[in-house]
Amino acid sequence: MVEGQGPYGAIDDGAVLIRDGDIAFAGPRADLPDHEAAQTDQMGGRWVTPGLIDCHTHLVFGGNRSGEFEQRLGGATYEQIAQAGGGIVSTVAATRAASEDDLYASALRRLAGLKASGVTTVEIKSGYGLDRDTELRMLRVARRIGHEAGVRVRTSYLGLHAVPPEHRADRVTYVDLAVDDILPAAHAEGLVDAVDAYCEPIAFSTAEVARLFDRAAALGLPVKLHADQLSDGGGAALAGRYRALSADHVEHTTEAGVRAMAEAGVAAVLLPGAYLMLRETTVPPVELFRTHGVRMAVATDCNPGTSPVASMTAALNLACVQFRLTPEEALAGATRNAAQALGLSDRIGTIEAGKRADLAVWDIQRPAELAYWLGAPLLHARYLRGQPS
Ligand code: NIG
Ligand code: FE
Repeated sequence: MVEGQGPYGAIDDGAVLIRDGDIAFAGPRADLPDHEAAQTDQMGGRWVTPGLIDCHTHLVFGGNRSGEFEQRLGGATYEQIAQAGGGIVSTVAATRAASEDDLYASALRRLAGLKASGVTTVEIKSGYGLDRDTELRMLRVARRIGHEAGVRVRTSYLGLHAVPPEHRADRVTYVDLAVDDILPAAHAEGLVDAVDAYCEPIAFSTAEVARLFDRAAALGLPVKLHADQLSDGGGAALAGRYRALSADHVEHTTEAGVRAMAEAGVAAVLLPGAYLMLRETTVPPVELFRTHGVRMAVATDCNPGTSPVASMTAALNLACVQFRLTPEEALAGATRNAAQALGLSDRIGTIEAGKRADLAVWDIQRPAELAYWLGAPLLHARYLRGQPS
């Protein structure tokens, strides 16, 4: 997946030399430098890709929202359910009631699906606690997954996800709490790799998000944004203004927003699972992203409300079928561009010397199969920092 090296950056009859968990050489087997290998694994003619990167998930949460799924199938909209006190805040109640061990155990079941689809790095957001204790608990669970569950984890603090019920009458107080109290506390505990927010009329305004982003900047933390998902709320422009790592969803982003993203190097994270589950009809401006050179990533958005999707290869299929990405663009979106959306381009996302040896080995004949099958088991093996896992 190294850029500019022909389709998929593919190397025929290749070899990867791994030393101390890092890639020491990647290229044609004929060019393999002299070395003494402690171990040699034959891939048997299989395809090897960078380990897949799921750069937008809400993997840690209590309960599920299959009841709301039934309501939506009966005609209710996502916004109506949220305004009636359901939606995100119903998951908040279930998450507050769950112990750290409960949250860890249920997240591991979903993580198993992601790992079986070749994922070696997963981003995990908070945002179903919306009070100090529970936000920190979610982030601790995310860190524990990174330490114990055979996957690389990046955390995002998503305190501005919804206004919790106890602050419905005074949202300003909640924004103060999320910005001035919970974020610094989580950061002081080393729990925050990036700061995210949900910018939407049913969630938070650009002015509220700007307050959060100013605080993130003061703490030296990168930002990203749920932008323009259900309406054009100027989210992409805001992401550009703060040089965010990514603007995510972006179905309703206009050309001005796309330009702002391009100028600031903001990646577009496409979330086709949420588009499917909400039966959306406005697709993200993929052609504009291409012409303006905005990098597109693809992620599952695994969450109980809008995207109960626990397979990265399923997300690739949905991105191609619904958004008309090419399979090569989709795979770049799950590797190289997803690394950029997490600020990890120097470490992961391609198979090249100097990067971590995070690899996925596939039982496929052609790489397009990764986006072609829907729900088929394609993975042969995963390597995390050179270790089979
Ligand atoms: O990415 N858009 C906001 N956040 C989630 C949905 C969260 C929920 O409904 O629980 C998303 O789609
Ligand atoms: Fe999300």
